Parts: sequence; structure tokens; C-alpha cells
Amino acid sequence: MKENIIVNPTVMEDLVEEISTNGVRRSIRPVYKTNDFALYNDDSLELMSRFPDNYLDMVFADPPYMLSNDGFSCQNGRMVSVNKGKWDKSKGFNEDLEFHETWIKECKRVLKPEGTIWISGTYHSIYQCGFLVQKLGYHILNDIAWFKPNASPNLSCRFFTASHETVIWARKDKKAKHYFDYEAMKNGSFPEDSIKKPGLQMRSVWSIATPSPSEKVFGKHPTQKSLSLLKRIVKASTKPGDIIFDPFNGGGTTGIAAAMIGDRKYIGCDLNSDYIALTIKRYEAIKNDHEHQLFDSNKLNKEETTMEKSIFIPENDVISENGYFSMNEVVALLRSYKSEPSKVQFLADMLEE
Ligand SMILES: C[S@@+](CC[C@H](N)C(=O)[O-])C[C@H]1O[C@@H](n2cnc3c(N)ncnc32)[C@H](O)[C@@H]1O
Repeated sequence: MKENIIVNPTVMEDLVEEISTNGVRRSIRPVYKTNDFALYNDDSLELMSRFPDNYLDMVFADPPYMLSNDGFSCQNGRMVSVNKGKWDKSKGFNEDLEFHETWIKECKRVLKPEGTIWISGTYHSIYQCGFLVQKLGYHILNDIAWFKPNASPNLSCRFFTASHETVIWARKDKKAKHYFDYEAMKNGSFPEDSIKKPGLQMRSVWSIATPSPSEKVFGKHPTQKSLSLLKRIVKASTKPGDIIFDPFNGGGTTGIAAAMIGDRKYIGCDLNSDYIALTIKRYEAIKNDHEHQLFDSNKLNKEETTMEKSIFIPENDVISENGYFSMNEVVALLRSYKSEPSKVQFLADMLEE
């Protein structure tokens, strides 16, 4: 147990106060706080070190995938850099593993025994995270395959088009009893998902499109998750009054999902103040839009259905410093492809589009 920390504060306000007034180290204050929503613009490891043991009901973590390797991808018919930002650059296998171990271990300390953690990732990071979840003694409940029916095409034409992410769901304590809203998952309405059959058990493959334009009206995070995905996760694994923490808040999708479902307390943390600002805009819009028409699920589903039909749909609307490729870069690419006509043809078709 950490010293100088109030044990088991019962409401988020106590927790926030406690983090703020901790005299031992630099105090950390939320940059934004309501009764059920607190945002920190900080390093989540620093923030978590002020949390008491056994405090949180659920953690959703979408950590850096470490895939910003200067490659390129196709988005909206344009070639764009895959780079998301400095935070997403790999520092090499061992250092990446160490980073993941530190935060996954700290999440375990702050989760209640029956609390659960969700960790999303692609092959760039998910095997490291899965290994650590096992090493650190969590109990794995599921590994969800999030299938994206509108994933971006593969430009190289040399391997399969990546169209899924894995989301690990694990409980802190092997023996505790976790919460699962079986009924809502079985009998709820999931029109966006062509795999889920009404009235049948929810399976571990979820078909959910990447975020629709209506989810980006206030701006976009380069790796923003779909609200349908997070709403499902929050509904499945939390009950009214639960405290949810997202150590890699990004554009705040976890918090927005929690606010839309209601009766949950959310704590989000991100190093980047622009992403915190985006989250505040999204949250305030939801709070002022009591009918939730802004991210209306029917509207959202319609958009997703339309999106599924088109192949040049952004997987992520990524624009990094060197976002779009210049004409010179395109020409250089075409020249490098001159002995591979199929690639040249593919690029030409894509650019025409
Ligand atoms: C994959 S993105 C999360 C996207 C988010 N799930 C969404 O839907 O918008 C990861 C985020 O973690 C943030 N980040 C990286 N390292 C961090 C750290 N040590 N503490 C807090 N935030 C961090 C990055 O700034 C980035 O916004």
C-alpha cells in the first residue's frame, strides 16, 4: 500500500482530491473534472502511482502499438504515412516490453480483485502485452477479434490485408468473480455487427467498422477507436457506479462511451494536451445532447453500412507531420515499382479514385 494515501476513497472526488494533495511528490490535478468524469494531462504511470490499491473496477488500455515505422498506407485513396506520432515509435523489443510491463503491472495493483482489464493491439504489440498479462498473474477471460469490415487495402500486394485487432480481456485475481452483462450481450441490439445474430450468445469475433465521420466532428485522434466497440466493452464489463480508467485516453472514446451508457465514473489520462482538449469537446457535446443524437447509433450504423461498401475508407484518418506523400515521393515510388506492373496499376487506380 502506498504511504500518505487515503485508503478506499468512495467517490471520485475523494480520489481526485487525494491525488491533488499528495504532499510526497509533485501533485497531479485533473485538467477537467465533473462529478463523473476526470481528465489528466500527464504520464499515466505518474498518475497511477498516486492511486490506492484495489480501487478501479475496469481498465481499458489502448497503448501505443509501436507501429510508426515510417511506412505508408492508403487512406481515402491517398498514400499517407503510417506514423501516428513520436509516442507510437518503437524503442526496440526490450524497451517496449519493459514499458508494457510497467503499466500492466501498475494497472493490476490499482484494479479491484474482481476488476478487469481490456488491452487492445495488433501483432506489433499484442503478443508482448498478452505474454505480460500471463506473466503478471492475471486470469485471461477472452481474446476478442475486432474485425474491421472496412479496413484499408494493402498497398504492397505482397501479403494479406490487415483487417482486425485483438482485444484481450482479463481479470486481476484468478479466483475472484468478475462482472459480465451476459443478458445485454446476448439480447441487446447490435445492428452494426453482421456477425452477431439476435438472441444468440455474443461470440468473440466482433464486426465493427472503424470510426464513422460523425465520431470525428470535433477533430480526430490518429488511432481513435470506434464508439460501438467501446460501448460494447463498457456495457459488457461494468455496472452502474463503477470506476473506469483509461491510461491512454487519446480522443477519450472510452470516457465518451461511459458517458453515453451513463452511471459510470471515468478517469482518463494522456500526455498530449490536444487529445485532452478533443476529449473535453466530445464529452461536453454528449452532456448537452441528452438524446445522444450527435453520435446517434442508427445514424452511425447507416454510415458504417455505407462505409463497408467502399474500399478506400480510412482505417484511421492519420495526418502526422509528414502526413501525405508529395508528388515527388509518389513518382519515386512508381519508379521503384517499375518492374512490378501490378503494383503500378494498383497505385494508379488508387490515385485516380
Ligand atoms: C493508441 S492511442 C489511444 C487512442 C484512444 N483509445 C482513442 O480512442 O482515441 C494512445 C495514446 O496514449 C498516449 N500516451 C502514450 N504514452 C502515454 C503515457 N505514458 N501516459 C499517458 N498517455 C500516453 C498517446 O498520446 C496517445 O494519445
